[in-house]
Amino acid sequence: QPVYLKNYRPPAYRVTHTELKFDLSPTDTHVHAALHLERHPDSEPGLPLTLHGEKLSLERIAIDGQELQPGEYQVDDETLTITDAPDRLRLETEVVIDPQANTALEGLYLSNGMFCTQCEAEGFRRITYYLDRPDVMATFSTTVIGDQKQLPVLLSNGNPVERGELPDGKHFVTWEDPHPKPSYLFALVAGQLEKVEDRFTTMSGRDVTLQLWVEPENLDKTEHAMRSLKASMAWDEQTYGREYDLDLFMIVAVNDFNMGAMENKGLNIFNSAAVLTHPQTATDAAFQRVEGVVAHEYFHNWSGNRVTCRDWFQLSLKEGFTVFRDQNFSADMNSAPVKRIEDVSFLRTAQFAEDAGPTAHPVRPDHYIEISNFYTLTIYEKGSEIVRMLRNLLGWEAFRQGSDLYFERFDGQAVTIEDFVGCMAEVSGLDLDQFMRWYSQAGTPEIDAYGEYDYASAEYRLTLRQRTPATPGQPDKLPLHIPVRVGLVGTKSGEDLTLTLDTPDGKEDLGKDGVLHLREEEQTFVFTDVAEAPVPSLLRGFSAPVKLRFPYGREDLAFLLQNDSDDFNRWDAGQRLAMLALDDLIAAHRNGVEKVMDPRVTEAFRSLLIEPNDDKAVLAEMLTLPSEAYIAEQQPMVDVDAIHAARNFVKQSLAVALRDEFLALYQANRSDAPYAPDAEQIAQRSLKNVALSYLMSIEDEEGVELARQQFEAQHNMTDVRAALTLLVHSSRGDIADPALRAFGEKWAHDPLVMDQWFSVQVTRPQSDALERVKYLMDHPAFSLKNPNRVRALIGAFAGQNRVNFHRLDGEGYRLLADVVIELNRLNPEIAARIITPLTRWQRFDEQRQALMKAELERIRAEELSPNVYEVVEKALAN
Ligand code: ARG
Ligand code: ZN
Repeated sequence: QPVYLKNYRPPAYRVTHTELKFDLSPTDTHVHAALHLERHPDSEPGLPLTLHGEKLSLERIAIDGQELQPGEYQVDDETLTITDAPDRLRLETEVVIDPQANTALEGLYLSNGMFCTQCEAEGFRRITYYLDRPDVMATFSTTVIGDQKQLPVLLSNGNPVERGELPDGKHFVTWEDPHPKPSYLFALVAGQLEKVEDRFTTMSGRDVTLQLWVEPENLDKTEHAMRSLKASMAWDEQTYGREYDLDLFMIVAVNDFNMGAMENKGLNIFNSAAVLTHPQTATDAAFQRVEGVVAHEYFHNWSGNRVTCRDWFQLSLKEGFTVFRDQNFSADMNSAPVKRIEDVSFLRTAQFAEDAGPTAHPVRPDHYIEISNFYTLTIYEKGSEIVRMLRNLLGWEAFRQGSDLYFERFDGQAVTIEDFVGCMAEVSGLDLDQFMRWYSQAGTPEIDAYGEYDYASAEYRLTLRQRTPATPGQPDKLPLHIPVRVGLVGTKSGEDLTLTLDTPDGKEDLGKDGVLHLREEEQTFVFTDVAEAPVPSLLRGFSAPVKLRFPYGREDLAFLLQNDSDDFNRWDAGQRLAMLALDDLIAAHRNGVEKVMDPRVTEAFRSLLIEPNDDKAVLAEMLTLPSEAYIAEQQPMVDVDAIHAARNFVKQSLAVALRDEFLALYQANRSDAPYAPDAEQIAQRSLKNVALSYLMSIEDEEGVELARQQFEAQHNMTDVRAALTLLVHSSRGDIADPALRAFGEKWAHDPLVMDQWFSVQVTRPQSDALERVKYLMDHPAFSLKNPNRVRALIGAFAGQNRVNFHRLDGEGYRLLADVVIELNRLNPEIAARIITPLTRWQRFDEQRQALMKAELERIRAEELSPNVYEVVEKALAN
């Protein structure tokens, strides 16, 4: 049954204080709850008291000390209802739950013998009966009881206030969290954990203890996360004026976790993959991910916890804003242009694909069946882009004022997206009514642009036309308010020209780079006093999440690649230039015509290589061809084989033509310095490994030898993994096979490294990849119960190995469907995510469409969880 945004009502009761007592045992944990309840002032009178509860076995229920008799309350699979509850009461319940049987990893579960919780969005109702909705905020006091030997560490939110020993070898700790919070921010952890500790003094002088709790063998993998945490705390003070508000902040690493991490108040719980790093086990990308996720969860303390969501339709209120905050943090810590390039590439490949598929939904959905299905790229990444557009429209200073107003006005409350945007409108005086459509309309807007320069009048006329394609349930769209940042690059000078915009109120000076407000379906902007013919640089910094088309010639793109002052657009010009060549080659491949390399692409790359006027990090991005997934997004119909062949052809042609340059680049960026995850070193390694990937694409003898040496040197995981991947993806089994074997033996004890070992093998383009997936599913290090393993093996194969997943015999689809059917029983949230590639059947040829749909039908015939049901129904809807 779908839930609708329009049906929102305040709850009948609110909880002012929650007392919990857990007596932990793997198969029967007793949870005693005492809820201090009172009627909600805004609720409709006479409503019964209805609590959420799932998979609980109720042992006892009492109101104000009086046991209730059967008949005084009703229990079904999802609720407990008390019809004649008083206006104010203390409700006590005692339930028994089975953490060991909890493979869904929602609520209280066991991971490697350790108890932990995941309550967002609706997991708390699997722990106890409660008003499990984010607009019910209470203070919590939690007592955790466990075996002293098995569970020496007992953690929950807030501050520990009491601890002691109990009979039968048990002990307890009581935690108090003074900040009212919704149940989704509750957390409990118990197990054999060890900690590293540090301190942070906040801007007002509060001394905060920082703890990172891990299994003992991971103590040497905590340094980077701790450093990232301190940097995040300092950054949020400097950038947003936000300070931490408890004396203790804890992070715990767990092995079995559905997502990246969770911002529980004072006790963040992390997927071990998003917190543990060591130079020998984690790549640069992993180090950067950890930095970003640590920051993300920490930033939620304000954007999410102090100010939370009224209901789950507002999810992007906290997620979009928090992603925006963590993206800016990472930009400040590393190369800002590269961070932007990475984020936009991800958005344009993965989120645009979601927006174009059957599960497309607005950033604020208006209905859902299963909220866990809505932790999507649209809510997170597009949500962040909307906040970024607000920043672009207001400018940083006004945006910061709006943020201050938001946090001050709504502190301690559960609010809506209107409340957030309202603050931005209030401080800036901007009318943001039309802008709100970004939250209600699904689909990626498309802008068709064209420009004309008139020598005689020295005018440049830029016309922009917008349209948003239909998405399921939304046939017609209205024009959006889109900030388009532009520059005009003079073709003679190669410099940004001054922008003088002709408006009804006279001439407006936009400087050298200005934001146009596109509000109509079609609008023409006239720039006057344009002294020389320009090439327009449009959507600088990717100022809005749209697809922009402009009839650039290849010379224009080569010119922008050389001259644009905007790093992002320089990179994008290179990508567009490569795309034009790729389009031709894809067509040639399909028509069986001989492929010819566009010399302009080769020349553009040559100048990048011989006049290195870029910082290394940006140069590495410029030298990277669009991914197969991105190329696929640009095609009307996806031909996986043609895309693969065309991209390889470009890569190999460049490698042949520029072999010596790539070799020199590799040599120039080698280093024996001790590993550090700093911007400088990361840039150097990525540049070196890009160069190596070109050499390996033609299996150049010297390149192969360098890859072999790089692997053997075992200097750091970034270099080892890069070399191993290139070898395993080549035809040099004589080197790759022993390397893989050595790697697998060396790291058999480390699941996060074995995940990389799985991914490297199942993403190889050779035709045995699918057989390898099947073989590896029986490997002792693999388990369908662990989401990281599933993502590393199944997710990597179905999501990244396009030629093999889309095999014409349908075996790739069948394998994925088999996994979905099993996961549907074990872990519905993961099942509903891993199925994604199958839902995109509309993008492929008829034969593949039929095969993919047949697998979706086969899944539909099963008894489905709401999660998988919702996705499969949408995928088969038309
Ligand atoms: N709020 C968490 C984060 O973004 C994600 C929690 C997702 N939970 C879930 N069941 N899908 O950091
Ligand atoms: Zn988040």
